[in-house]
Amino acid sequence: MISVNILKKRRDILISKMVAKSAILIFATPENIKRQNEYQFRQNKDFWYFTGFNEPNALFIIVKKDDKFTQKILFNKPKDPDNEIWFGSNLGQDSALTKIDVDYALPWNVINENIYRFLIGLNTIYYAWGEYVEADTLVFDALNNIRNDKSHSSIIPSTIIDWRPLVHEMRLFKGPEEIELLRIAGKISALAHTRAMKACHANMFEYQLEGEIHHEFSYHGVKFPSYNTIVGSGNNACILHYTKNKNKMCDGDLVLVDAGCSFKEYASDITRTFPVNGKFNKQQRELYNIVLTALKSALLMLKPGIIIDEVNNVVINIIVNNLVKIGILKGKVDELISEGTYQQFFMHNLSHWLGLDVHDVSRYGKSMKNQILQPNMVLTVEPGLYISPYANVPIEYRGIGIRIEDNILITETGNECFTNGAVKEIELIEDIMKLKKIN
Ligand code: GLY
Ligand code: MN
Ligand code: MN
Repeated sequence: MISVNILKKRRDILISKMVAKSAILIFATPENIKRQNEYQFRQNKDFWYFTGFNEPNALFIIVKKDDKFTQKILFNKPKDPDNEIWFGSNLGQDSALTKIDVDYALPWNVINENIYRFLIGLNTIYYAWGEYVEADTLVFDALNNIRNDKSHSSIIPSTIIDWRPLVHEMRLFKGPEEIELLRIAGKISALAHTRAMKACHANMFEYQLEGEIHHEFSYHGVKFPSYNTIVGSGNNACILHYTKNKNKMCDGDLVLVDAGCSFKEYASDITRTFPVNGKFNKQQRELYNIVLTALKSALLMLKPGIIIDEVNNVVINIIVNNLVKIGILKGKVDELISEGTYQQFFMHNLSHWLGLDVHDVSRYGKSMKNQILQPNMVLTVEPGLYISPYANVPIEYRGIGIRIEDNILITETGNECFTNGAVKEIELIEDIMKLKKIN
């Protein structure tokens, strides 16, 4: 559980951004009873950020009357001895008061009749509509309740503001406690990649390598990967979201492993690409070194004051120049870039934000590319090259997919890489792969 002090800090920042006579409503992930044996519950990350509370069916409200008077309210599931026989205990209302640090904790089963009471007399509601149908119904029913109740007809909230831009801007800048969790997530994931390198051998199945990675996660106290693990060998490395992980890995192929754990809800996201048999061949080596050079150049540039697009342009330049040198692209570098010809081989973004979510919230697209980097932002750096088996290039390059992905924190002077524990130099990978295999 996140400490009450940290929750207080986050809530105070949020309150300072709210107007007077307003309330903010943040819902937990709803429970899906019908499917409770089929899926693992994952908490809504915005709700988690302000509550550290990991149960479904809950609503966190902050009411701000003015700068001096605020109230925090939680609706959560009541204690239920019958339910506890099957599913174990839940927090209930009494403990929520201190553990979640709220002024009132009320049972979820009476939310319909009570939610509107906290909204009477306010002008503004901060609410992220469209996340959960159940939540939209509850909120709009509450507003209708106030409208229909003649005794409260004088003030009805008339402005609804989406809180996501406010909250997601806060989540873009990580606090020291978040940075530490991201650092640990990176370390554990790096150990998992190292384990995969040691365990890998020809004729092993991709899912067996996935098993090695997940074993290392759980060995270090981590239950969940932060996204579906990708183990793509041979041509499968060119499928960006390949998660079937079902093929036998062949001698002479590369395998691309994109895997990261979620440590205390904080994500890591590492990709390493290595030869199934432990030795890169000439073409694999050539392409690998292009991607590695691009990554290293990006890591040198990423610091406060720079925009991601500048770094992206340097990466594209390195990739295109080198593809021309080895004859995979033909033509003038400038034209190959301006016409986007290279995109058949490098078709995804260089970076995304990282935090509670693996593709963490905040700006994307053009606004991410133009974002001026500032200290305490955390992002991935992930150049890649994917030469389709059908590409019109010399045959020995076809079907090679390479991505190398690190996670970095922007510091006051540059960046700190969280994922250096997983080696990426060719010689170091080959050395590790020579080490005794795990049984
Ligand atoms: N693993 C997902 C990504 O790299 O964005
Ligand atoms: Mn990524
Ligand atoms: Mn990834």
